[in-house]
Amino acid sequence: MSEHFDVHGGARLVGEVEVVGAKNSVLKLMAAALLAEGTTTITNCPQILDVPLMADVLRSVGCEVKLDGDTAHITTPSELSHRADSPAMGKLRASVCVLGPLVGRLKKAVVALPGGDAIGSRPLDMHQNGLRKLGATSTIEHGCVVAEADGLHGAQIWLDFPSVGATENILMAAVLAEGTTVIDNAAREPEIVDICTMLTEMGAKIEGAGTSTLTVQGVESLHPTEHRVIGDRIVGATWAFAAAMTRGDLTVTGVNPHHLELVLEKLRLAGADVTTFDGKGFRIVQPERPRSVDFVTLPYPGFATDLQPFAVALSSVSEGTSMITENVYEARFRFIEEMVRLGADARTDGHHAVVRGVEKLSSAPVWASDIRAGAGLVLAGLCADGVTEVWDVFHIDRGYPHFVENLNRLGARIERVATEPERA
Ligand code: EPU
Repeated sequence: MSEHFDVHGGARLVGEVEVVGAKNSVLKLMAAALLAEGTTTITNCPQILDVPLMADVLRSVGCEVKLDGDTAHITTPSELSHRADSPAMGKLRASVCVLGPLVGRLKKAVVALPGGDAIGSRPLDMHQNGLRKLGATSTIEHGCVVAEADGLHGAQIWLDFPSVGATENILMAAVLAEGTTVIDNAAREPEIVDICTMLTEMGAKIEGAGTSTLTVQGVESLHPTEHRVIGDRIVGATWAFAAAMTRGDLTVTGVNPHHLELVLEKLRLAGADVTTFDGKGFRIVQPERPRSVDFVTLPYPGFATDLQPFAVALSSVSEGTSMITENVYEARFRFIEEMVRLGADARTDGHHAVVRGVEKLSSAPVWASDIRAGAGLVLAGLCADGVTEVWDVFHIDRGYPHFVENLNRLGARIERVATEPERA
């Protein structure tokens, strides 16, 4: 049985909404728990599908995982399995983040290639090259990354691109390597800072978190900790776009506005009044129809690729023409095909999209291709005439806790309906 959302157009979102822990942090923090024997506690976990999936991944290598509301208790035994090839692995991208900790602790890992969103090619060459520099062999065999080392030693590693996942895997292997590892052109995302903070609490020695150069002094062993996940900046930004698109007035808490500086600046340029509350959240009021703004996706602190669908959705109802450039995932413009079904005046040329704003979108059945595209279609549906059916909403459930409930509380009218889809 498939589920879809019936999104009634014409909503104006008003009120307060709290953002909880970041999906792209909690899943990696859960993997980091593999590095220390004993019970690690992670709080402020979002209630999204990917968290129990990651719990299954950890159980498959021997951990006990208890999910209790927004808290995860992960008990890592002294003897772990090096084989992470359960079916759960294929259901999310972050599962590959057990590779670094398993190689770090066991000097050996067989990790099934991860699943995740269909947003373009997602190779693991930088993860593998980093592990090789640390002294491991790494090959792809029968759908798994296989890595093995006699011992890990510190190394100088240059990444071709500041990959989030490669930075995390190399970091989690390097914390238990002998000597000093320097990762240059490392990712600088707030989620990287979060994992560095947790690893440091566990006894790791890391300098440079949040900069392009991470220096890791390997230690013998780590100990468990209790750690609170940072607020989800992508979810926070989603609410900011929701306010701008619906000419609403939203106060968003639980997220650090410094993690959203460029996003909030773009929305100011689109005509929003934005007030930030230091470290805690922001308020965004959109008094009139938004004005068109250009967007270019780049690694942090650039404009996040995960927000590109919202940039397209906002532009499609703004006054004027926007150019949107996608530099990270080539297939993310698939979202535009669905927006065109909703009456958006948009076209792509390579990694650029040109969107001419229309006064109102027009409801239609549309299909979510990934988490962010799904949420983008829901917001677009709020700006359309009539009832928009958004299909394949399990994508949205993977990343947005209580999305529909929150939207309805803020003034939207959306129903979750369970039926079989009939694709035109
Ligand atoms: N890349 C390589 N080789 C590698 C690794 C990456 O060529 O070994 C390329 C990718 O193909 C891509 C770019 O580098 O073009 C960036 O990939 P990155 O490794 O930074 O992404 P990721 O770690 O796989 C995370 C998030 C994504 C988010 C990206 C970029 C998680 C679980 N996923 O993916 O989030 O888009 O960083 O910020 O943390 C989402 O939440 O909806 C989502 C897709």
